[in-house]
Formats: sequence, structure tokens, C-alpha cells
Amino acid sequence: MVTQLRAGFLWGASTAAHQVEGDNVNSDWWVREQQRPPEQRSGSAVDSYHRYPEDMRLLAEAGLDAYRFSIEWARIEPAEGQFSLAQLAHYRRMIDTALETGLRPVVTLHHFTCPRWFAEHGGWLGERAIPQFERYVERVTAILDGVDWVCTINEPNMLAMMESLAAAYRSGEFSATVEEGRPPVLPAPDPQVGARLAAAHHAARAILKSHTGAAVGWTVAAGALTATPGNETILREVREVREDFYWRAAREDDFVGVQAYSSQQVDERGVVPTPPSPDNTLTGAAYRPDALGAAVRHAWDVTGGVPILVTENGIATADDERRIAYTADALRHLFAAIDAGVDIRGYLHWSALDNYEWGHWEPTFGLIAVDRETFERVPKPSLAWLGNVAKQGGL
Ligand code: BGC
Repeated sequence: MVTQLRAGFLWGASTAAHQVEGDNVNSDWWVREQQRPPEQRSGSAVDSYHRYPEDMRLLAEAGLDAYRFSIEWARIEPAEGQFSLAQLAHYRRMIDTALETGLRPVVTLHHFTCPRWFAEHGGWLGERAIPQFERYVERVTAILDGVDWVCTINEPNMLAMMESLAAAYRSGEFSATVEEGRPPVLPAPDPQVGARLAAAHHAARAILKSHTGAAVGWTVAAGALTATPGNETILREVREVREDFYWRAAREDDFVGVQAYSSQQVDERGVVPTPPSPDNTLTGAAYRPDALGAAVRHAWDVTGGVPILVTENGIATADDERRIAYTADALRHLFAAIDAGVDIRGYLHWSALDNYEWGHWEPTFGLIAVDRETFERVPKPSLAWLGNVAKQGGL
């Protein structure tokens, strides 16, 4: 059976501003990175801030027709209430360049980073967090002409998890797990932060819907969790705090972004750490191309049938043939879900470029390699391969 893709199915790749632009000096992550050794900082990243036309051209030449990138709030509003017209114009140029290059822009408004002043005021739990985010979103709507897809907040469940992680570090709980030699399991997202993010997302959606014609959604990190025998109830509880709350918050959205990489089990003690294996990817995740199929089906069930855009899927590997094998298999699982009736609007691979993986440079997810001294781009065979899949509309 040949899978019927919807007309206008997006085939593309994704990036996030902080991971590729470089010199994002006004963001909270930049501040945090300064405590790390220099080789673990973002620095000039891969200089996509200046080289985005080349990045876009490489994607389009390969045959892709969509590019997901994010707008950096810390550049647009480097000091509270002070908006940079030049930076707004920069992102407008990116949108124009994407359109002229033949790529449909999928624009994310918040991808993990925020301005340092926002973090200093308490971040997402700060008293004025929502009106501050609303004001930023409102400013950005002015440059979104021609953009059909807007993601408000990337992986709110991971963002809320980062708050829990920071608290676990403060209390010593997290380092204790690491010292005992057990591979760490990321803590559950902080529900208070999660609730704030959902409110911020809904507020942003209202602004975007009244000022633009774009489809609006947010993108959720999907764990593709499964229960070990007898632990279905625990699975439901774990899934509720880690992701289902976030899928349900998307029920009134135009689409929901699904981001899936791997899968984990849940037993009577909760999420089971991924055992070491030579098959694990460079982030230590299990090699599970089937995760994407499970993730889209779960998102479809919990949202009650909200259309899905795969906004991230990929593998951290230095072996590009393995990237192709993983992606081909992930797409087979995606197509099976489409055949089963799940409404999928596109597939955006993570990532367009090898980039800054939040504290590390070793886990390479890119379809394009980058020399970090000269910034020279070298497309990998996987880019041509995915471009061909896009041109053929299937495997
Ligand atoms: C994030 C990306 C990240 C990727 C690979 C997602 O959690 O949105 O920023 O680089 O996964 O780990």
C-alpha cells in the first residue's frame, strides 16, 4: 500500500536559534554557559545568524520545502520593554529568504532560551511572566506575514523539567543518583511551571490568531513510554505529568508538534534508565526509530485528533548511514500511523545542521556538517537522501 500524504505535506528540517546562530549574549543560557569549560559553550555556534541564506539554499537544493527555525526573544527584547527594530528586521529577512528559496517557514517563538532580564525576574514563575511574553509575541506578529505555521513554545515539558532539574541539583538529589553509578533519569516536569507555560501558550495563541492567519500550536517532547508487565497504571501516572498534560493543552490548537527520538520503559519505580548499550546514540538514548510512530499515535489519542506536524525527529550519530537507516525506519512507522488514520501534516528532521546540543558539541544530529573554525558547510549524504524522499513524496 502506498501511503497517501496530504496535499501540501511539509518536508523539511529544524533548528533553534541558540543552537545555531552564535553570540546570543543576552540570553539566560549564555549566562549559564559561562560556568562551563569553553568547549562546552555555544560561542559563535555555527554562525547561522549570518549564514542562514546558505543553510536554506542547501536544504532547498536537496529537495526539501520547509524550514523550522526560531526567533530569539533575547535579541528582539534585549532589555525589558526595549525592542530592537533591527533584530525584528533580521528575522523578517529570514522569513523572506525562506520564501524566496522555496522553503515554507515554520517559526518557533520560544525554544528553551529567554532574555536574561526575564530569568532574573523569576523566569516563567515570575509575577509578570505572561504579560511579558504576550508583549514579545505581539511585537513579533508584525513580521509574520506569509508564515503559515507558528510554534509558540518548544517542548514546554522539557522546559518545566529543567526547573525540576535545577531544584534537584540544588538539593543534591540529582548528583546523588549520578554518584551511585545509576544512569540519571530526568526528573518529572515541575507542574507549576507547566501550568504557567500552558497559560502563556494560550495567551500567545489568542494574539497570533487575532493578528495573523498562521496555524498555531506548540511542540511537545514525546517519550514514547511503555509499561513493563503489570505497570500500566504507573505508566498512566508518569505519562500524565511528563506529557499528557501538555498534549491536552493543545486540544484547541490548529496543530500540535510531535518531537520524538527514542523510547523508555516504566516499571513500578517509574521511568527505567536506558541501560548502556553499543547501540545507544551519542546522547545515550536507545536506538528506537519506532518511537515516532508510537508518539504520533499517542498524541493523536490524547489531543482527541488535533492535526500533527512532526517538528523534530532524528538521531545523534557520527555515522551518517545510521542516520539514514534510522530515519527511513522512523518514516515507515510514521507512514503506518498515517495509513491507520492519524492526520500528519509534515515531517521536519532534527536537525538541519550539526549544532550546539545544550552544553555539548559531540552529539551530532545534522544533515549538514559544519567546520566550527571556518563555518564551512558540508552536506552529508543523509541530506540528499531526505531530499529525494521529499521529491518522491515517500520512501
Ligand atoms: C530539542 C532540541 C534538541 C533535540 C535533541 C529537543 O529536545 O527541542 O533543542 O537539540 O531535542 O536533543
